Amino acid sequence: MKKLPIKLYDPTFIQKLVFNGEVIVFEKSTFINRIIETTRNHFNKIFGVTLEDFFDDNDNLAFSTKERFFFQLQNKIKKCSEIKANFSNFLKEVGFDTKYVFKDQYSLRYSPKLNGKAFGKLKPTLPHRDTWASNLFDQINFWFPIHKISAGNSIYLVPKYFKKKVENNSKSWTFEKFKKNDDYPSAPYTKINIQDNEKVSFQLDKGNILCFSGHQLHGSLQNKKQRINFETRVIYKSNLNKIIIPKNYDSNSKVVKKNWFRNITTNKYLD
Ligand SMILES: [Fe+2]
Repeated sequence: MKKLPIKLYDPTFIQKLVFNGEVIVFEKSTFINRIIETTRNHFNKIFGVTLEDFFDDNDNLAFSTKERFFFQLQNKIKKCSEIKANFSNFLKEVGFDTKYVFKDQYSLRYSPKLNGKAFGKLKPTLPHRDTWASNLFDQINFWFPIHKISAGNSIYLVPKYFKKKVENNSKSWTFEKFKKNDDYPSAPYTKINIQDNEKVSFQLDKGNILCFSGHQLHGSLQNKKQRINFETRVIYKSNLNKIIIPKNYDSNSKVVKKNWFRNITTNKYLD
């Protein structure tokens, strides 16, 4: 893992690191902190309590109400212009020219305590590569919690498999089935046995953001605490002649999800 301070980089440097299987933590971004503040303000307005009260169960809200409020919050953050501007500023802050950035929607994910109940379709994820669903091998993931988290209440990555074939169900999984069915997984997954010592996870302070290749095998960790994280994916269509994107070792689907990604400045779909 590489801890990098917030500064201007040549994006080729960032792409080369993640496409070689490295995981980056960008530390203390003002813009990521602003996204957190905005998200928490939306949370307070919708739930009528703070995030801390919600985590401590001091909210007197029924599970179905919390679930409904969480969906409202998710929709809110997908459309929020402040979040959009701040994420764009974060990308510029680390060196990306947003003209060339194609981005998936922002997602907010709630992860319950171990054995707790998830909201709707948002189950904690089994180990997967995002590229098994998108088939876009230059995809870069960004992930951060909206509160401080320990390494045991985080996402895990398994860099050991970056250049190895992993058996998975990408041949039969479809996004359409996921959309229609609440109990269908949000991504194809693998059932291989991953040892705890092969999983890499990080304690993250507020304002720190993880960056890794969409080809990196990853999944959700759960412990005694709940978690809410923010995530999105980008594809950077510049410098492509200078970088080598990950090779497809094991995606067995031919469906390429270019229409998940839109240009940050023009809103045009990836072509
Ligand atoms: Fe994922």
